[in-house]
Amino acid sequence: MTQSPIVTDARAATAELQKNVLPKGFLWGASTSSYQIEGAAKEDGRGASIWDTYCRQKGRIPHDETGDVACDHYHRYAEDVALMRDIGLKAYRFSVAWPRVLPLGRGAVNEKGLAFYDRLIDSVLGAGIEPWLCLYHWDLPQALDDLGGWTSRDIAGWFADYAALVSRRYGDRVKRFATFNEPSVSTMFGYAMGWNAPGIVERASYFKAVHHLNLAHGRAVDVIRSLVPDASIGIVHNRQQVYPESDRPEDAHAAALLDTHWNLIFPDPQNFAAYPPLAARDMEPWQQAGDMAQICRRTDWFGLNHYSPIYARADAGAQLGFGWGKSPDSAAHTGIGWPIHPDAFREILIDTAKRYGLPVYVTENGCGDNDAPNAAGEIIDEKRVDYLRAYTHALGEAVKAGADVRGYFVWSLLDNFEWGAGFANRFGLVYVDFKTLKRTPKSSARWYADLIGRVS
Ligand code: FCB
Repeated sequence: MTQSPIVTDARAATAELQKNVLPKGFLWGASTSSYQIEGAAKEDGRGASIWDTYCRQKGRIPHDETGDVACDHYHRYAEDVALMRDIGLKAYRFSVAWPRVLPLGRGAVNEKGLAFYDRLIDSVLGAGIEPWLCLYHWDLPQALDDLGGWTSRDIAGWFADYAALVSRRYGDRVKRFATFNEPSVSTMFGYAMGWNAPGIVERASYFKAVHHLNLAHGRAVDVIRSLVPDASIGIVHNRQQVYPESDRPEDAHAAALLDTHWNLIFPDPQNFAAYPPLAARDMEPWQQAGDMAQICRRTDWFGLNHYSPIYARADAGAQLGFGWGKSPDSAAHTGIGWPIHPDAFREILIDTAKRYGLPVYVTENGCGDNDAPNAAGEIIDEKRVDYLRAYTHALGEAVKAGADVRGYFVWSLLDNFEWGAGFANRFGLVYVDFKTLKRTPKSSARWYADLIGRVS
């Protein structure tokens, strides 16, 4: 790839830091997820997911946008793998759409769906890139939601069977497996806030969903281990510092609650066999003997998604007693309004490595903006380049301070369907024109290619 004209000395200094401190074989990658990029929602036997349903409910997504076509990655995956190769990615994290391989979530297998991931994995490997397969990035089969979805205890078994199907099929070529992506987002937003599919706002449903998802994780770890003995297994969690919106004591309590539900309610039981104190009582009714041991399984790495700190405010009317607070106006913000705080990233890396004692891979980090091509058709996303440079610099500092961090995946390879924001928020290294589906690498893709070339 040709060198970006905006490669500066400061960037070279960052690369120097990384070159000197990052461990050998550090993995530079990018992440995507099935519903956000694949499209082909009704093709080759794919079943419906809760996101297909949710997007069709009036008022949920701006302009009634859906993932029906998204980036059309299902048909254009070869072009997308070529883009990954051009950038020089060492690893690629993607997710399998459960309803594409099991249209009803269980029972009859869809061979055409399985064959798609064969083609994708083979093509990723052919480009010299390591595939990282995530089993669940939020697109639950609708047929399972009709049976209660995550609120049903049976889902731990359904998920284990799905994990068996996927690991048996691809385990000869794929060695990196993540059970879930950001379970605290899919359960909190899906069952307590109603901002994500399935759009439920009910306290008890949320607590049930949390426990059953934790059980499903533990069951899946066992299944993958037994079927792919040399697999390296992890799970992807979002972890972000939580600050109170004001110095009112109620907001401080709200921040402690949000921290419990956002940062602790999944990784703590999975690693320490106990729910965090502020949630323990609410979790009790759903637990049976042996559950905590089943949830707490050894994993090989901790997948960390981090973008910025978050803020909480007390809200007695909310299902969980807190609401989303506003970040201070004085903070720098990305184009979509998320605070930019690389020091927080350094601190969370150090804290995550210490608290959980596992090698950390940053499985998502990136900058959302409303990019548009200039008159020459180029996408000069300097804000994203600055963000990525500052955050990868902070990563170097965390490693220097002793944190065991072994990889970094940018969110995202492509602009895509950004859930509740539809197509407005762009995170890609590669711009996608959603009318023509044409892909154009942005300046950030060239910057990342340059970094990977220097530091690997
Ligand atoms: C994370 C999600 C990912 C994407 C980024 C911006 O919470 O895992 O799918 O939406 O945020």
